[in-house]
Order: sequence, then C-alpha cells, then structure tokens
Amino acid sequence: MGDMDRGSKPAVLVTGGAGYIGAHTAKALHEQGFFPVVYDDLSSGFREAVRWGEFVHGDIRDARALGETIEAHAIKAVIHFAGLIEVGRSVVRPDLFWDINVGGTMSLLSAIRERGVDRLVFSSSAAVYGQGGRGPLETIPEAAPKAPASPYGDTKLACEWMIAAECRAYGLSAVALRYFNAAGADPSGQIGEAHEPETHLIPLAIAAAIGRGPALTVFGTDYDTPDGTCLRDYIHVNDLAAAHVAALNVELPAGRFEAANVGVGQGRSVLQVVEAVARAVGRPVPHAIGARRAGDPASLVADPGYVRELLGWSAQCSDLDRIVADALRWEAQPAYSTGGRAAGPTARTQPQ
Ligand code: UFG
Repeated sequence: MGDMDRGSKPAVLVTGGAGYIGAHTAKALHEQGFFPVVYDDLSSGFREAVRWGEFVHGDIRDARALGETIEAHAIKAVIHFAGLIEVGRSVVRPDLFWDINVGGTMSLLSAIRERGVDRLVFSSSAAVYGQGGRGPLETIPEAAPKAPASPYGDTKLACEWMIAAECRAYGLSAVALRYFNAAGADPSGQIGEAHEPETHLIPLAIAAAIGRGPALTVFGTDYDTPDGTCLRDYIHVNDLAAAHVAALNVELPAGRFEAANVGVGQGRSVLQVVEAVARAVGRPVPHAIGARRAGDPASLVADPGYVRELLGWSAQCSDLDRIVADALRWEAQPAYSTGGRAAGPTARTQPQ
C-alpha cells in the first residue's frame, strides 16, 4: 500500500508502529479513516506487522530523517511508541534507555516543532508510579505519587516532563497514555504479541500449556495481596489501540498536556491468569513457584475514571477470558516468520 491509496485521509506518523501495540494502533487508525505512516528501525518490531499505510525504516534518534518523513507524508499528528520496554534490561543498561527513550523523544520533539505538527500522543506506562506508599487493593489515579521502580519507568516519566514543557513553550497539545498490562491480540490473527525474548505472563503461560515452552515460574507468592501473587490490570491491546485514536481526536487547546491511565480498573492475580489460560486451553498450565522478580510492584491497577472523562473511552473487550482466547489463537499460529525481522542499524551497532 502506498501514498496513492491515501486519498484525502489525514496522515499520522506512528513511531514504533512495527511493534506490538503500535501495529494494533496502525490497524485501528486505518479503520477510522487515517493513513498511518509507520517509522521503525525493526530492532524489535516486525516488517510483517506493517500492513496498513506506509513503512519508513529509520532510527528514532535521527531528527533529520523524522523531519523528512513528516514533510514527505504531510503528517498531521504523531503517535510515539518507539522505545525500549524491558524493565529488567533497563536495570543493567540504563544508558541505552536514556539514549533511545529520552534521546529519541527529544529528536522527535525537535522534528515536529520545526514542521509545525501540533498533536502528539505518547506511549507512557504505569511504571511511572511504582508501588509508592499504596496499599495492594488501591487503584491508581493520575495524581498518585510517581516513584518509578526501574530506569525504564524513570525514562517514561522524564519523557512526560519533556513533552509537558514542550507544550507550554511551543503550543503543542499532547496526551500521554499510561498503559497498564497490554495483552491479547487482534482476533483476525494478522497481528499479535511477539517479543524476543518473551517475558510477559500470558504468552509464557500459554506456551507452557500448549507444550511450546517450559513450565511457567510464578514470581512470588508472598506478596500482600489476596492470594499472595502480584495484581495487574490486563487490558486488551485493541482497547488500548482505540484509546490512541480517541487521544488523537480529542479537542484540546494549544499548549495543553494531559496524562491518563489506560486500564480497566480490575486487578487480576498471576494465579487467576494461570487459571484463565488453563480454562482456555482445556489443560492445566505446568508451573512452579519461584522467587520474586526484582522491580515488580505488588499491584498496579488503574483508576480509569479520568480517561473516561477526558477521552470518552472505556475498555470494551478486556474481559480476561476474551483476552486469553485472543492471545491463544495468536500463540497457536503466529503470522510472523523469524525472517520478518530485518535487523536495523540500531540492532547491529548497539552493545547488548
Ligand atoms: N510473571 C510471572 N512469571 C513470568 C512472567 C511474569 O509470575 O514468567 C508475573 C510478574 O511477576 C507480574 C505479572 O506476572 O506480577 C505480569 O508480568 P508481565 O511481565 O507480563 O508484565 P509487567 O507487569 O511486569 O510489565 C508490564 C509491561 C511493562 C510495564 C509494566 C508496568 O510489560 O512494560 O507492565 O506498567 F513497565
């Protein structure tokens, strides 16, 4: 698909659009009458995940290439996903996270400032909160204390500050969406979750249950939660994608920065997820109890009140059984071949 298919559709730059949440958002944009232009270095995304709009291969720190892309495609708004996401790796390589997440956002801001783009949607995270002084059953409003438990969370918070200041100084309007636990896959089977290595609970539990992976390790049963395992707010990736489209469309005055939690508002424990996977597969999930994983807060559950007020958005397909059923369909038959990942310049030159 090229610019010829674009017609009069407004073009939206989707940095990191070959990744998990980015690809689902590109599909939602296409369905809602936008023309997505995916900008990705394929260091962790998949070329085969770019099925809607246009693809541009580039590094998020390259302000010049970003500026040229914005100009060439007459970009009206930007959704910024590109960045590193593995919490554990951020503890051992914080330098990479500051370079790519914070340096990349700085380059993007300079490119959009020079070209006069006036709307940005930023991929933030519940990791900006950490555990703070919160009780395990308390939901998190946006005003909750920010106490990131990892350099990953630090970089997401630093990016929010940078974007907020950019809005005040230059009249940009921006929405930071603080995701809780993205999960599931598009029911079409065209796109889904694919990380290397995979560290997320639902794909690992499914792999164990269908015999494609080792037994799952449950990281800690001694948390101060009802069953002793961590509570998370799992949200279907297509609900998350819809929140991005709503954040593009919402009317905001010039200079306004907003941050909103994107979650369901319901905590599910690791053992509840294991049971849901067993129900979906029709077989128990082989698992063992292990030690706590460093950096895991006991609970992260959104208060979704503000996002509903701001964007008129609420989760529509995030029932846990539905999330697991969609993830299972994808895990049983992923559409990407390993060859779909073309290592970009970033992947080749960065120390691991
Ligand atoms: N878990 C296990 N065993 C595993 C994997 C995970 O018990 O093999 C547990 C974790 O300890 C945690 C829960 O399952 O309690 C969910 O873990 P995930 O790794 O699936 O997700 P996280 O909550 O750690 O991380 C997600 C995103 C991060 C983001 C974070 C906070 O992947 O990018 O939420 O927003 F930073």
